[in-house]
Amino acid sequence: MELFYRVSLHEIIADALTLVEEKELSSKHALERIFKRVEGKDKETARGIAHAYVFEIEKWRAKIDFILNSVLRGSKVEDLDLYLANLLRIGTFEMKFKGVNPAIATDSVVRVVKEKFDLTKAKFANAILREVEKFNVEKALRKLKEKDRIEWLSVRFSHPRWYVEYIIDMLGYDEAVRLLLSNLRPQRYYVRVNTLKADIDKVRRYLEENGVRVALTPVDDVLKVLDYEKPVTRLEWHRKGYFVIQDLASAYVAHVLNPEPGERVLDLAAAPGSKTFHAAALMENKGEIVAVDYSYDRLMKMKERMKRLGVKNVKLVHADGQSFIDREGFEKIILDAPCSSSGTYRQFPEVKWRFDEEKIKRVISVQRNMLLNAYRNLRSGGEMTYSTCSIRIDENEENVIFALEKGFEIVDYPFEWGDKGFLEIGEKVFRAWTHKHDCNSFFIAKLRKP
Ligand SMILES: C[S@@+](CC[C@H](N)C(=O)[O-])C[C@H]1O[C@@H](n2cnc3c(N)ncnc32)[C@H](O)[C@@H]1O
Repeated sequence: MELFYRVSLHEIIADALTLVEEKELSSKHALERIFKRVEGKDKETARGIAHAYVFEIEKWRAKIDFILNSVLRGSKVEDLDLYLANLLRIGTFEMKFKGVNPAIATDSVVRVVKEKFDLTKAKFANAILREVEKFNVEKALRKLKEKDRIEWLSVRFSHPRWYVEYIIDMLGYDEAVRLLLSNLRPQRYYVRVNTLKADIDKVRRYLEENGVRVALTPVDDVLKVLDYEKPVTRLEWHRKGYFVIQDLASAYVAHVLNPEPGERVLDLAAAPGSKTFHAAALMENKGEIVAVDYSYDRLMKMKERMKRLGVKNVKLVHADGQSFIDREGFEKIILDAPCSSSGTYRQFPEVKWRFDEEKIKRVISVQRNMLLNAYRNLRSGGEMTYSTCSIRIDENEENVIFALEKGFEIVDYPFEWGDKGFLEIGEKVFRAWTHKHDCNSFFIAKLRKP
């Protein structure tokens, strides 16, 4: 039996926003799931439009919610039914950010509310969106700036308040504002050449012949995409695994670790595999990499990618990196720990709204357990990288100091680019920043087991 059910673009966007929040998916993955069930000749166009909406609404959510909370008076958008809240966010975004005619924006939302809920809720949505239409955002922001400058920054640049406070403390006011601004700019793409299948000159020529302008970077096998006619992921050589999209700082980790052909390497939080596959390429597929991850779904994605990239020396293991033990031990370990992802706001704006202090404390405890477990798995004289895409000192430098107290030594690695870090080990660790290095904000330290 074949069934068709008509849905509007607004429903798809509200579904995606709801999935992003409830299942903690990225915008892209939420839409991938939804579009598996969508057919029609305009599917790809619709997916592109929906993605742009979801991405921008997640990016601007603090400002959108500020508007809604100002007109809701008394109640808060976070307390409403999530699907209804998301529909109101879409309406507000269309009116106040996209310049859609307010009557049209309101009507599209109210129609969906009527269908999904009832007439009372539809009247409520209609009343709220009429208030949004009349609301003077600039005036309200001016008032807020006088009253509470941190809150103003948080709303004006749409970042969590804790993050604004944290980076002002860490970087000072002016630099913090530069970081906030850089997180709002369009994502920068980097291409890592898969040296198991190609070399940088060939890939560079191929990309340029296909309308992609690129530049060299401080990382040998990585190119910066300056502009393109069609997305690089739609090119034949991407499909064939000659290159992958990988952020600049993330692609620095394997170079810092420097795994050699024939070695035994452990990746304790491996999926979706960017660093594992990079290590495999540096090892020329010789030796063994044991790639552990807690998420079965992500490991399965890794399996697919492995085939495409021609990676042959990786064993996938579904296990907890806090307790996984392999008695033979390893010469090298990659620990790219789960973290608050607070360095990836430009790429994944939805993660801005996912972490509070409580959750960050829990993730730090996992990071520390993984460091202790890396120590158990490392052979004497073995080396490892500890990296995160977090900006926070407690997830980075403080964890390294914790590792030193537990027996590790820090390797004084000659980082060729990036910034120094903080605290007493600051000189010996690596930091990249979105506003300075045009990539994710990132941390790397190299450790050794004596
Ligand atoms: C930052 S991501 C790793 C990215 C990966 N290294 C790469 O370069 O593609 C963190 C990973 O840790 C995994 N993870 C979270 N908790 C874990 C645990 N207790 N044991 C193992 N993996 C875990 C998550 O599933 C996620 O895939």
